[in-house]
Amino acid sequence: MEKSTVIESDRRESKTGNMLDVESIRKDFPALNQDVYGKPLVYLDNAATAQKPQVVINAITEFYSTINSNVHRGIHYLSQQATEAYESARVTSQKFINASESSEIIFVKGTTEAINLVASTFGIENIGKGDEILVSNMEHHSNIVPWQLLCEKTGAKLKVIPINDSGELEMDELKSLLTDKTKLVSIIHVSNSLGTINPMKEIVTLAHEKNIPVLVDGAQAVQHITVDVQDMDCDFYTFSGHKVYGPTGVGVLYAKKMHLEKMPPYQGGGEMISTVSFEKTEYNTIPHKFEAGTPNIAGVIGLAKALNYVNKLGLSAISAYESQLLTYASAEVEKIPELRIIGRADRKASVLSFVLENIHPHDVGTVLDREGIAVRSGHHCTQPVMDRYQIPATSRASFAFYNTEEEIDRLVKSIKRVVKLFG
Ligand code: ALA
Repeated sequence: MEKSTVIESDRRESKTGNMLDVESIRKDFPALNQDVYGKPLVYLDNAATAQKPQVVINAITEFYSTINSNVHRGIHYLSQQATEAYESARVTSQKFINASESSEIIFVKGTTEAINLVASTFGIENIGKGDEILVSNMEHHSNIVPWQLLCEKTGAKLKVIPINDSGELEMDELKSLLTDKTKLVSIIHVSNSLGTINPMKEIVTLAHEKNIPVLVDGAQAVQHITVDVQDMDCDFYTFSGHKVYGPTGVGVLYAKKMHLEKMPPYQGGGEMISTVSFEKTEYNTIPHKFEAGTPNIAGVIGLAKALNYVNKLGLSAISAYESQLLTYASAEVEKIPELRIIGRADRKASVLSFVLENIHPHDVGTVLDREGIAVRSGHHCTQPVMDRYQIPATSRASFAFYNTEEEIDRLVKSIKRVVKLFG
């Protein structure tokens, strides 16, 4: 992979003094430069999955065209090259979230698998009958259902931190829900349906005062804000590759070494063992103990390219630019009297969820689609959030660093069209 002929984007500021040179960045993303129904695509479904820069696409093609080989298994040249690229991606991922050691990075399919892994290993070992697991009202289903499955198996109970009308955690309730019975707190860092950025450092401090470990679902965070797991001091942190401009089918589980050392394996198979006999199997050291079978090697390498791409733009520039987009979009849609924004937290990232009076979000999504605008309409895998606001669904525009104010203008114009058509 060293011989790559792909020229990576450098950190770029626009000539007009913007934090990012978005016009030039957009050229790195081939999928952005296409028409849909005869109109230039406006891609505002980044919370579902982000588009991929050419460097990521090329890295995957290059892997299969050059060093394609299995990792940790061969002494031949290609296998060594593949292993080196795979392990170097682990270091890139470690640095991206500032984990203290690369062995604390486990490659998984994505956030969903990461949470299931923790539930099936750490959860089974440490959570029993009468114990409590604390989640919040704004969790994605992937941070609810694995714990419900664990509760069914063990007799533990799921407790829920309520949210206020703005879509922020009720911190006083959170404090009173942290009791001697609580054995784990598992909370989303940035809400995918509301955009709320939760105060994770504060939550971790509160939980740790009672020796309760904390898992943070970072699927909607790492692409928008700088994450430092050592500073946050969380016990587990998860994210998915495809939402941070990498491939689908790959993601990261970070866990403190002290937990990983004690956790039983998640799946059995090749790679996760050191010796096997019919009498007894000894497990491999971490992180390999948790990576049974041939991993998604090309995906992992593509993920590292994506993280490098994001690093080069710089997360502080990304955060500043995206926050400018969100402020602009929120102010513009608020001028539409029939529109109500769902999620008005003080600290928000890149998500604009809304409903239109007496118009179903699916109708909104369909009309916008015909205008070439991709948003997500639905419950966003957060049905308890919809119940909280007593709505069936929302329409959600979610922004990335390659979106522009001109695209937001098109969104706003099309929403006005929907109001005219159905209102
Ligand atoms: N969790 C993803 C979303 O919010 C799929 O759209």
